Amino acid sequence: MKGLIIIGSAKMGSHTNALAHYLKGHFEDQYFEVEIFDLAEHPIHQLDVSGVSSPSEVYKNNLTLLQTKARNADFFILGTPNYHGSYSGILKNALDHLTMDDFKMKPVGLIGNSDGIVSSEPLSHLRLIVRSLLGIAVPTQIATHDTDYNRLDDGTYYLDNEEFQLRSRLFVDQIISFVKNSPYEHLK
Ligand SMILES: Cc1cc2nc3c(=O)[nH]c(=O)nc-3n(C[C@H](O)[C@H](O)[C@H](O)COP(=O)(O)O)c2cc1C
Repeated sequence: MKGLIIIGSAKMGSHTNALAHYLKGHFEDQYFEVEIFDLAEHPIHQLDVSGVSSPSEVYKNNLTLLQTKARNADFFILGTPNYHGSYSGILKNALDHLTMDDFKMKPVGLIGNSDGIVSSEPLSHLRLIVRSLLGIAVPTQIATHDTDYNRLDDGTYYLDNEEFQLRSRLFVDQIISFVKNSPYEHLK
């Protein structure tokens, strides 16, 4: 069973990326393979159904990689910073390049980070998108704040809040439970 975490921050080394790495560790403790696709590290071009733009080879290759990983994933985590009270356009653009065939009846966890007032609104908005893609957004979600993180000597963020560390375990356990029991397998 393989998971894919898609990160929609515009920033390299984002807080959301740090949370994704923390969660990846918990999945791996339970022998679940998880890959992180960070859209800041692997940018893709804007969706263009008219085909008038000429995206670079790098963008096209990144998109092919994302689409392949998404198709092969058994579950997803969508990670977003809070941008203007919602999820990022970068993440929405990536989701617009994917389809129901990628998400149909697969468990989806939602995580996000804000810098102003802590808000779970971006995740509520994402829940609607997951439903449209026919994914199953699990009930537990994680909405952190910049102050829940600290930095290593090299500047890398790490999750430094006990409450969220505990919540992360619950979150991972919940997704694994959905994946293992596949309650909606027969509806695919
Ligand atoms: C375009 C933009 C809009 C933002 N809007 C909000 C906002 O509405 N509320 C908020 O709390 N923070 C807002 N922020 C701040 C980000 O949430 C903050 O930089 C956060 O650390 C991003 O998390 P990340 O490091 O995972 O990308 C905004 C940042 C940007 C770049």
